[in-house]
Amino acid sequence: MDLTIEGQLYHNGAFEYGCLAVTQGKIVAIKKILKTDIHLNVGNKLILPAGVDLHVHFRDPGFTHKEDFSTGSQAAAFGGISCVFDMPNTHPQTTTIKALKEKKQIASEKSLVDFGLYAAICDENIGKIGELSAFCNGFKIFLGSTTHSLKLNNQNLRVALRETNRTKKITLIHAEDEHCLQTHKDREQTLIDHLRCRSAECEETALKNILNNADNLSSPIHICHLSSCEGFEMIRNRPHNISVGVTPHHLFFDVQSINTKQTFYKVNPPIRSSFDRDTLWYGVNNTYIDIFESDHAPHTEEEKNVDFDSAPSGLPGIETIYPLFLSAMKRGLLSLDTLLALLCERPAQLLNIPKGKIEVGRDADFIVVDLKNTRTISAETLHSKCGWTPFEGFPGIFPSMLFIRGEKVIDDHQLVVKKTFGKCVGGNL
Ligand code: DOR
Ligand code: ZN
Repeated sequence: MDLTIEGQLYHNGAFEYGCLAVTQGKIVAIKKILKTDIHLNVGNKLILPAGVDLHVHFRDPGFTHKEDFSTGSQAAAFGGISCVFDMPNTHPQTTTIKALKEKKQIASEKSLVDFGLYAAICDENIGKIGELSAFCNGFKIFLGSTTHSLKLNNQNLRVALRETNRTKKITLIHAEDEHCLQTHKDREQTLIDHLRCRSAECEETALKNILNNADNLSSPIHICHLSSCEGFEMIRNRPHNISVGVTPHHLFFDVQSINTKQTFYKVNPPIRSSFDRDTLWYGVNNTYIDIFESDHAPHTEEEKNVDFDSAPSGLPGIETIYPLFLSAMKRGLLSLDTLLALLCERPAQLLNIPKGKIEVGRDADFIVVDLKNTRTISAETLHSKCGWTPFEGFPGIFPSMLFIRGEKVIDDHQLVVKKTFGKCVGGNL
């Protein structure tokens, strides 16, 4: 045993005061009493699994003035996330083996947390899915245009899904229908305009299309960032291989509640009405939603401080996702079981990595947290390069420690390892 840690362990769905032992980065034992030379007693603080975020945009390479793998992964670590999966709308876009290899190299040199990469499927590389699959953890399809994105034509969706299905890897889909977006396209001056131009009908149409084309498939398909009541109705009775995610911004905001700095809340799919928001919470608390994903999509303040129509869509969220939900849990908005299932266990399961749970045999990725320690979220104390947060002033409960593969990365809210600690997950990519 390299290390033992003692405290209130969340294990088998309940807290139990006890110890876990780590050998070579793995949890090897969980018992009432365990002790080795390096023994850490955290008293009555909670020991919870670290989070896994299957949806981040770390902007590296190409847009590193917004974020890079070093700053993005640091923000993840401070927020209790031990593993992230990066989206392909970088520059170059990860649509080729070459681009995937380059990004892997960059992330290996810079990432503080473990990581995985998605390949984008577009009309040009649809015949190469089999080859790409050896170099990525999964695939991303954008059905509608969004920031720096590349689209897949609706007519190609059926073939694309059949091909990704053969790889057994997950396919994530941005579900807004391009034709519908084009039909409603107009000049936008406010968030309400943005909502009108990207109506729930566009999400509904895309979801209908996905469900129609996903028959008889067995590999995981993940619907990213569900945002509307209409969308919710579509996915209620979906096949088992289709999972659905929601973001903190769609759960904590509604369009009427945002009065200032409107461009900073411009995001795709848009933040909708309180009715949509409440429907998403209903979905979270009634087992319809599988995943919490940050969709961390930073842009600089300078880029956001322009007229509404010109502002890019997207907002940061990797560092605040776990703290926001821990605080929401404390206020009774969701159970700890639900929180840990959606932020840790299910994403690890979908990406097929041995993380997300305190269990013998898994990676020793966990956080230490004191639920009494609520902090007011402020951009000043966060680590994303973009320098702002939409959750300014919200209550958050931040972990005081983070361990990744048994290595202490954060201690007493401070970084304690060198920055290139993160490894690419998913076997021999
Ligand atoms: O608002 C968004 N921003 N939605 C996306 O799908 C992409 C993202 C970005 O990369 O900025
Ligand atoms: Zn995204």
